[in-house]
Amino acid sequence: MRTQIVAGNWKMNKNFAEAEELIGAIASEMEDKQLKCEVVLCPPALYLEMASDYADESDFFVGAQNVSEHDEGAYTGEVSAAMLNSVDVDFCIVGHSERRKYFHEDNYMLANKVNRLLDHEIITIYCCGEVLEEREKNIHFDIVEQQIKESLFHLSEDEFSNIVLAYEPVWAIGTGVTATPAQAQEMHAFIRKVIKNKYGEEAAESTTILYGGSCNAANAKELFSQADVDGGLIGGASLKAEDFLTIANSF
Ligand code: PGA
Repeated sequence: MRTQIVAGNWKMNKNFAEAEELIGAIASEMEDKQLKCEVVLCPPALYLEMASDYADESDFFVGAQNVSEHDEGAYTGEVSAAMLNSVDVDFCIVGHSERRKYFHEDNYMLANKVNRLLDHEIITIYCCGEVLEEREKNIHFDIVEQQIKESLFHLSEDEFSNIVLAYEPVWAIGTGVTATPAQAQEMHAFIRKVIKNKYGEEAAESTTILYGGSCNAANAKELFSQADVDGGLIGGASLKAEDFLTIANSF
């Protein structure tokens, strides 16, 4: 069976004390729950070390929201994969639509980021997804295929086993408009087919594909019940321990 994952993308929210409170609440509430999925918390970079300290005593994993495409050196403001690894980060989000849009990250730059993460044994959560206009033009499958091919298909099959996909239709992110379970399933099945064509059936069947975009405590169960939806990448609803754990308990 594929690994099911619920990951919380906190984006640029919470001060240090608030972050510690939320991590502590999630860690303690997880103790009473027999979750069927892996839980990944992706707080801002400044809090990763603190999150890792909590993770040592708990069952969750720690993820970063971004990584530099460079190894090291004169890149003011950047954080390298080696640095993430040195504070025990397990996962890193790459290619979130907000980074594509506001920081002009393209598929080729993202391929470099994936390579840096592989060098340091950090699992990539690679985000793909179309904007509304692309869906309306009926080119959403082409867009998602291109994002996956250009950022990931230079990898060997072995390297590709360190990739988690996250389908996040941009029109659903932070808008309260969720993809319908059928829309999510349709795209996830397509993504699995794209992977199968490149890496074969076994790789396709074992790749975890998450859904993201206004996934919440009320709609997670139906989304996660779809055959090719293996969990979620959660933004807004990951900022409250109770909501986030309800989502993680939705399998
Ligand atoms: P949302 O964000 O759940 O707030 O829509 C998801 C994401 O951006 O990863």
